[in-house]
Amino acid sequence: MAGNNSKKAPVLTIDGPSGAGKGTLSQLMASRLQWHFLDSGALYRLTALSAHNHGIDLDAAEDVATLAEHLDIYFDVNRGRVLLEGDDVTQVLRTEETGASASRVAAHTEVRKALLERQRAFRTAPGLVADGRDMGTVVFPDADLKIFLTASANERAKRRLAQLQESGSDADFESILADVQSRDERDRNRAESPLLPADDAETIDSTHLTIEEVLDAIQEKARARGLL
Ligand code: C5P
Repeated sequence: MAGNNSKKAPVLTIDGPSGAGKGTLSQLMASRLQWHFLDSGALYRLTALSAHNHGIDLDAAEDVATLAEHLDIYFDVNRGRVLLEGDDVTQVLRTEETGASASRVAAHTEVRKALLERQRAFRTAPGLVADGRDMGTVVFPDADLKIFLTASANERAKRRLAQLQESGSDADFESILADVQSRDERDRNRAESPLLPADDAETIDSTHLTIEEVLDAIQEKARARGLL
């Protein structure tokens, strides 16, 4: 239970807007540290998918929260798959459409509350790298190191476009930029857990940095805190 004095496993949180490179960096950091990894965005995406599958309106906060609480999911780490109610949803989970729906369900206080304990349960030895929007502010306020990763909206849209093109989807820059901006707007301005750096977070702007440079910067900060 929270509140006891037993030593908790260490946590490194990486928060920031979509497309700043959090996903890739968090996974690389987790494997460097040999720690567990929490992709909290996937939980909101899975909630949105589940609502869609069950014909539940994304704006029906209570109903979506009930779904979130009882999500039947499985992260098959070895095979890089995610299962929702036994179905492989790995591909559909990452689409722009699912991301936009996730951002809608994530705006409900009830849904965020329903997912809170599920996220905290990922904190087990030897440690956890948690990727999201409110990891350092709400979910793990006592994290050992909090990173807030940003990049300009233009750069983030460029990276997303390259990713989509690589996977063979066609997309145009202007619509991706518009999507990035509207998602930022919604994530920053929602009443519940808005996207903001924690007071004690270290901000890294990745606009002009490579993945390796950001990774090294985070590793340096982790080392300075005795996490490595
Ligand atoms: O990180 P990802 O793009 O997968 O997240 C999808 C959406 O879920 C985000 O746009 C955001 O609205 C929401 N989210 C959130 N809090 C988190 C992680 C994701 O509100 N910790």
